[in-house]
Amino acid sequence: MLTDSLPNRQRPNRKSILVLGAALMLAGPLGAATYVGSTTCKTCHKDKYQQLTNSIHSKMIRKISEYGTIPSTQPSMVASVSHIHGNLSAPKAPPLTEVTYVMGGWYKEESYIKEDKDPVTGKATFKVTKYEWDPIKGTYRDDRDGTRDWLTKCAGCHATGYDPATQTFNEVNIGCEHCHGPGSAHAASMEPADIVKDTSSEGCGHCHIRAESAAMGSFTNKQFNFPIGYEAGKPETLKFIPQSLSDTASSFFPDGTSKRHRQQYLDVNYPGFRVTKHYEKNVTCTSCHDPHTSGLLTVSSGIPATANVPTNGVYGIAIYDNATGATNFAKWDGEGLKAGFSCTSCHAGADPKHVHYFTPKAMAAAIDCIDCHMPDVINVNGASLRGALHTHTFSSMRPEISQKYGPDNQANSCTYRCHQDRGATKTARAQWAASYLQSHLELVSVSPAGASLRLTGLRNFSYTLEGTVDWAAWLPIRTNKADVNGLLNFQDNTAPGTRRFYRVVEK
Ligand code: HEC
Ligand code: HEC
Ligand code: HEC
Ligand code: HEC
Ligand code: HEC
Ligand code: HEC
Ligand code: HEC
Repeated sequence: MLTDSLPNRQRPNRKSILVLGAALMLAGPLGAATYVGSTTCKTCHKDKYQQLTNSIHSKMIRKISEYGTIPSTQPSMVASVSHIHGNLSAPKAPPLTEVTYVMGGWYKEESYIKEDKDPVTGKATFKVTKYEWDPIKGTYRDDRDGTRDWLTKCAGCHATGYDPATQTFNEVNIGCEHCHGPGSAHAASMEPADIVKDTSSEGCGHCHIRAESAAMGSFTNKQFNFPIGYEAGKPETLKFIPQSLSDTASSFFPDGTSKRHRQQYLDVNYPGFRVTKHYEKNVTCTSCHDPHTSGLLTVSSGIPATANVPTNGVYGIAIYDNATGATNFAKWDGEGLKAGFSCTSCHAGADPKHVHYFTPKAMAAAIDCIDCHMPDVINVNGASLRGALHTHTFSSMRPEISQKYGPDNQANSCTYRCHQDRGATKTARAQWAASYLQSHLELVSVSPAGASLRLTGLRNFSYTLEGTVDWAAWLPIRTNKADVNGLLNFQDNTAPGTRRFYRVVEK
């Protein structure tokens, strides 16, 4: 094609515009843009195409025939990262005749899709077979009753150009036009005005959500297992019926934080329940994530040298051992965040030591904002702490909530991933963290004029500083309210030079 030699983002001369325009006019009239497919965008945007095809967004569904036939005995899942991770000779594995497409398997589960074409109409149906491989447990499940219709349950989020009326789609996986809208007009004109740049949270959130469709035109409520009718660049077109917050058995912790994958949008904005400051102030998914490299796959050094990993850098995945080292599974390693991203790029003034007394050991552990404000407590699977995703409410999960709702039901930022050594049970650990947070009084400075102390307490709670000289009579010195960070400072100038013991009492 003429445009193959174009340097990216440069307009070609008039002549080639006309030639290309004429070629594409055949595919669809200008004005009413249609889907042209990511490979058309590639002709002029090679760098973006390269990024997208290195990302998990384009590696979700793999057509078996494009990878050749599946060997009848899979040596192991690690040896076949390119298309199937699970061992197809393991018990309960799907028969090869039931697999047309493989879906996922990077970190959570691998499902298999069977495509059946009607011999008369030629129209295909897609069924998710009942077999699922769990990369964390390394086993197959076949406990689903029957099969699920991929076209009404999954396709809206796992394909590009899905049309609910015809239940057809243009491209499997997340292609350019899912986020940029149908691109025939732009591909012909090369005008920025003919293509959408959707930087809203809804642009990512209409897939990164657990919700059913809201009624629209002739479609009834909950007809689809995903929102329908979203138009790129128009956040107000996202209409949905969210997963119920009272579904604490599987989807939410009792405090309303997500505990299941693909709920990032509901953490950021759950209508009527939670609107984060980030959402309000237009800090969107793309403020932190690069849209094209989101979920970038990298080949980990943990993969054995004998593994059949593509060496051309096209894709691979980091493979981690689980707690016992018995099985392997993959976890996204955080690449794909915007270059230079950090919480402090916006919160420049944030003291990373707030709400936490940092011992030298804690300092050495290099605790990050994310450890407390986005703990990876989602999907934590049984005793294993691996395979987990991060919360997106951006609030720290205090240990008190584990005490309130029960430590088996409610995670917290302090003792689910860190401080495992503070007690033998979850209850004991949460108890330790809560009492530690509430009681940590530090001496900041002492001078002839008096003493300066700092308490790490609960936000907006009030505390009274009391002093004694004999451990018998406690004299209230002053009462202060903790700030939003839970911090409060006390100055005691009432008895300079006197030896004094201090304690703090919650009011
Ligand atoms: C024939 C070449 C060509 C094709 C094909 C093409 N583009 Fe472009 N596109 C361009 C050029 C040239 C620009 C830069 C315009 C500028 O900077 O003024 C551009 C700009 C863009 C922009 C930025 C718009 C903005 O507001 O800054 C996006 C997004 C985009 N293209 C997406 C796509 C997608 C998606 C496809 C496939 C459907 C596609 N392009 C196909 C040539 C093309
Ligand atoms: C069309 C639906 C869709 C849209 C739109 C979408 N995503 Fe995704 N995203 C997915 C799917 C599906 C996966 C999982 C792929 C897999 O596991 O194979 C995914 C994976 C990811 C991952 C890696 C997750 C992990 O746990 O490994 C990140 C990060 C991500 N998306 C961010 C974004 C951002 C940021 C946007 C918006 C710019 C966005 N996504 C838009 C469907 C979508
Ligand atoms: C509302 C959108 C939506 C629907 C509907 C949806 N998914 Fe997903 N799915 C996602 C997103 C987004 C991700 C990745 C983000 C994450 O895991 O947090 C994902 C990830 C996955 C993964 C990846 C796990 C891995 O280990 O790579 C599998 C498998 C999967 N989905 C299967 C399905 C199946 C099967 C259906 C239909 C029964 C379905 N999904 C319906 C949005 C959706
Ligand atoms: C997951 C959603 C998503 C996918 C898939 C996606 N884009 Fe984008 N793209 C965006 C967003 C959002 C922006 C705006 C980024 C910004 O302004 O911060 C963008 C910006 C662009 C730009 C403008 C330059 C820039 O970096 O801001 C071009 C060109 C572009 N995309 C082309 C493509 C092409 C070509 C593909 C397919 C190979 C593609 N995009 C796939 C979401 C996506
Ligand atoms: C304030 C920054 C920020 C915003 C806003 C944000 N994210 Fe994230 N996101 C992160 C960080 C940080 C991680 C974890 C990276 C790591 O350490 O591995 C992450 C991880 C993810 C993952 C990978 C799975 C996981 O939890 O490890 C997905 C998927 C994702 N984000 C999607 C989204 C979507 C969709 C939105 C918008 C609704 C969004 N994010 C908004 C910072 C952000
Ligand atoms: C792109 C800029 C930006 C980035 C990056 C960013 N923030 Fe924010 N954050 C804001 C803004 C703006 C506010 C709202 C401030 C206000 O209104 O007082 C905010 C508010 C908050 C709040 C108060 C939330 C509430 O709902 O009360 C917390 C907590 C927070 N951010 C944590 C984080 C963490 C943790 C990160 C890194 C994962 C981060 N932020 C990254 C801009 C950002
Ligand atoms: C050891 C855990 C921990 C670390 C590390 C941490 N925070 Fe916090 N942060 C908290 C707690 C707890 C609060 C108080 C909120 C509460 O009590 O609900 C808080 C409060 C905040 C607030 C004010 C929230 C509000 O509601 O107004 C912002 C903003 C914030 N943190 C940003 C950051 C940033 C940025 C970093 C990294 C530089 C960081 N935090 C590191 C635990 C932590």
